[in-house]
Amino acid sequence: MNPFIIKGYGGSKFFCDRETETIKLLNAIRNQRDVTLISLRKMGKTGLILSVFDQIKKEKSHETIYLDIFHTQNLNGLINQLATAIFRMKKPFGKRMNDFFSNFRYVRPVISVDVLSGLPSVSLQIADEKEAKTTLEELFAILSELSRTIPVVVAIDEFQQISKYPEKNVEALLRGIIQQLNKVAFIFSGSNKSMLTRMFGDASRPFYQSTEMIFLEEIKDDSYASFITRHFIKNGRKVDPVTVSDLLTWTRLHTWYLQYTCNRIFETGQDCIDETKKAVVADILLGFEPFYLEYRSLLTRHQWQLLKAIAHSGNVSSVTSGNFIRQFDLSNASTVKRGIDTLTEKEMIFKRKNEYFVYDVFLSRWLELQEI
Ligand SMILES: Nc1ncnc2c1ncn2[C@@H]1O[C@H](COP(=O)(O)OP(=O)(O)OP(=O)(O)O)[C@@H](O)[C@H]1O
Ligand SMILES: [Mg+2]
Repeated sequence: MNPFIIKGYGGSKFFCDRETETIKLLNAIRNQRDVTLISLRKMGKTGLILSVFDQIKKEKSHETIYLDIFHTQNLNGLINQLATAIFRMKKPFGKRMNDFFSNFRYVRPVISVDVLSGLPSVSLQIADEKEAKTTLEELFAILSELSRTIPVVVAIDEFQQISKYPEKNVEALLRGIIQQLNKVAFIFSGSNKSMLTRMFGDASRPFYQSTEMIFLEEIKDDSYASFITRHFIKNGRKVDPVTVSDLLTWTRLHTWYLQYTCNRIFETGQDCIDETKKAVVADILLGFEPFYLEYRSLLTRHQWQLLKAIAHSGNVSSVTSGNFIRQFDLSNASTVKRGIDTLTEKEMIFKRKNEYFVYDVFLSRWLELQEI
């Protein structure tokens, strides 16, 4: 088996470090504090939540519920996900059919079997906002009841999605219910930093300062280097420490990109040395090229030029400086400013400590190879 997992969670053996973050999350959960977990996309939020859940499931200290609401479009979608997760909970708490139905006063759940996973799914037809409110309360009442026997922890991944729902008062509604559940801890997780910081940091919003914020950064380079080395050696491969260090730099230690590159190097059956790395890296960029050409067609010439300029500069702070504009032929400061706003909004770039980066690491490396 390839030890470099590129989706989900594959057990503690394949999970690198995150010790400090795990302790922080566990402490919050054990002391009923709600947490908001934020990071760049693909940095490892979901992996961390699943790893922590794995740990507490083994300890049998809490009942866990994990919801990924990225694909939900409205409050009804969220309700269905929650109902499904509750219905799927193992006995004695996963209520039998009739028992489950008896929780709802107005709506009648429809149970179907998911074709892909073979697991049951619950869907509830909600007529209006009042019914949505009651149903949500009824669902959380099940958790509240359960939490009298065993504390419960609920993770809502891609939480920023709720601010895109057409219903106006979802934040207030959820906050109102959650506030009353004192033995249910919540983890809200997501990658849209500005949206989430506004949700939790704006005094006029219902979730204002209601949670502890954890910003997930890159895994430490020495931990990741020994993780990579260990897995190659274990499988009888030689490892060149300089190659490993190059890989960390080339992927900017961004978890998914590093995992993916190691996964592809492992697949070759070769040693982890410079020669293998070079061939794999070239092949990765070639494989993604059609997507990058597609991106180019979706941006204006100026936006594309600006993106290339940011990639070529590595990490750039003064994007509106005369030097930067002249060097990359970027017309004028106000056009650059607008370009930066658009690229940020499209999540093509991000800003950290006053420096701009192309968000997608492979795209950034590919752009560096393109002529200016
Ligand atoms: N600590 C880790 N050690 C090894 N692999 C990890 C670790 N954390 C995450 N991964 C892997 O990295 C990839 C990205 O992680 P994950 O999906 O958890 O990120 P995410 O922040 O939730 O991403 P998204 O923003 O897309 O939801 C996954 O393939 C996951 O298996
Ligand atoms: Mg995720």
